[in-house]
Amino acid sequence: MVVRIVEGEEIEEGVAGSGCSDNWLVRLFRSGGWMGPAGRLAAGPARVRAPAGEGRRNPKIEKNPYLGFIYTSFQERATFISHGNAARLAKQHGDLKLAQICGLIAADEKCHENAYSKIVQKLFEIDPDTTILAFADMMRKKISVPAHLMYDGRDYNLFDHFAAIAARLGVYSARDYADVMEHLVGYWQVEKLTGLSPEGRKAQEFVCGLPQRIKIIEEKAQDRAKQAPSLRLSWVYDREVRL
Ligand SMILES: [Fe+2]
Repeated sequence: MVVRIVEGEEIEEGVAGSGCSDNWLVRLFRSGGWMGPAGRLAAGPARVRAPAGEGRRNPKIEKNPYLGFIYTSFQERATFISHGNAARLAKQHGDLKLAQICGLIAADEKCHENAYSKIVQKLFEIDPDTTILAFADMMRKKISVPAHLMYDGRDYNLFDHFAAIAARLGVYSARDYADVMEHLVGYWQVEKLTGLSPEGRKAQEFVCGLPQRIKIIEEKAQDRAKQAPSLRLSWVYDREVRL
């Protein structure tokens, strides 16, 4: 599993002894068209695939385990949050089965997050300087989901449109992104790191201030989103949806 992450491959694994469900079960939920439009807002448009499988590759971790485990810690918490939000919305709209499915996936993602963030916690303990530099590097590149290259054959901005709708509905927004970061900064006690190199201290300062900066940018973006147009989406049966 470690090699596959460091090689830059997006994977979903059950974590031994953690009570997480097996790989195949997660994939089954993720790939099922039967989840319906609301479920796909959390899982992504399952019927849409990136060209030549490129969307399943994560190009930003450069076969570096520090970057790899920081990336997966972030990504797993983000998917835990998005599926939890989708579960809540499904319940509010009366689809209890979908709420249950999304809740189950959210719990599974939480298990993955625990495993990866504990690995990074250990990295901070034994090699704080390299780890903080990697954390800052990863955040400067921005964490983008492997699906950001997805394409349905007609919309070249498909992921941006998908993300805008998910944000407007409260499934996953830039504010959640900032919250994930804030959580990890706290969990890894980044503010309390001592004995860092001058570059390490700069990275520490950058990482600790970033969640607040993202929240300010998000507030401005929300104002712009109020005048957003509508568009027909292939992955919800050409239904017209406001961005
Ligand atoms: Fe996961």
